[in-house]
Amino acid sequence: MTEKLLSGKPLSQDEFEHIILYKDKYFDSFQQKAKEITEKVFGNEIFIRGLIEVSNVCRNDCLYCGIRRSNACVERYVLEDEEILKSCEDGYDAGFRTFVLQGGETDKNYASLVKKIKLKYPDCAVTLSLGEKTKEDYLELKSAGADRYLLRHETADNDHYEKLHPDEMSLKNRMECLKNLKKIGFQTGCGFMVGSPYQTTKTLAKDLQFIQEFKPHMVGIGPFIPQSDTPFKNEKAGSLELTLYLLSVLRIMLPKLLLPATTALESLSKGGREKGILHGANVVMPNISPMRARENYQLYNNKFCTDTPAKETLAILEKSLNKIGRMISYSRGDAVI
Ligand code: 5AD
Repeated sequence: MTEKLLSGKPLSQDEFEHIILYKDKYFDSFQQKAKEITEKVFGNEIFIRGLIEVSNVCRNDCLYCGIRRSNACVERYVLEDEEILKSCEDGYDAGFRTFVLQGGETDKNYASLVKKIKLKYPDCAVTLSLGEKTKEDYLELKSAGADRYLLRHETADNDHYEKLHPDEMSLKNRMECLKNLKKIGFQTGCGFMVGSPYQTTKTLAKDLQFIQEFKPHMVGIGPFIPQSDTPFKNEKAGSLELTLYLLSVLRIMLPKLLLPATTALESLSKGGREKGILHGANVVMPNISPMRARENYQLYNNKFCTDTPAKETLAILEKSLNKIGRMISYSRGDAVI
């Protein structure tokens, strides 16, 4: 099975199920292989992205998410353009060359802000993570200069998707959005939570199969972590081990993939970020949002969150990466596909 995964030949759903079921058998060899591949493709360099949480207002009501529309406990905010530009300025001075604007799904048009950022920082990439939009909206954002777009598919299984989302949302539309993003020319990212409620070996195998076919430039995976004001408050969190294993599988499947060690991984387990890197991740996305945003962007409980400014954040990150034989790359870190 290891050879098949390594060969780049497509695996069937059964074969992916086998890989997931036999995690304990393959864990060490996959980690080793993932480590070798990551080092061969990216050396010891880790890409950094400055994450700005632009707003926690959301029209959607995803059952797992802390900023879902019907959560009345959230103090909602929308950052002003000036606040976002200030975060970019501090981030740029610290050495970031990618800014990720992430926020709940709304009608707000970010095209003019993207233009401003690209004008001021022409050497930087802008990544957007703002949810589902029409093809025309995506085109407008691309024309404004946005380079990349992250939209997790959440699960590639229709029944599972319906258990995680309200009726008005559909996997069909999500997949349509992802296809449009790629067609338009965005470096495109999908992804899913590990251990989301009702996830099974079968649904996970479908996730891997979808990723194998879609060939995204980026994949975001992190453990599901319950949030106390959501319908899934009493559900179990995802497992660290399975997340690490899947990072290795993804690295072997798609050697050039941009694969972040996510905040959720660090939130679930201290040192999770470094572990993620040692299992094939090659991207870290430190939070450079203004403080008023950091407190209120709580997708799940106990989210790893500091009040450290961008420069110090990178100094701390550099040290922790050095301990595991890695260093920060201060380049844009574009996809090399
Ligand atoms: N636990 C972990 N990840 C979550 N996300 C949303 N809610 C949670 C949660 N409770 C993830 C989703 C979403 C991304 C922005 O955060 O996968 O796409």
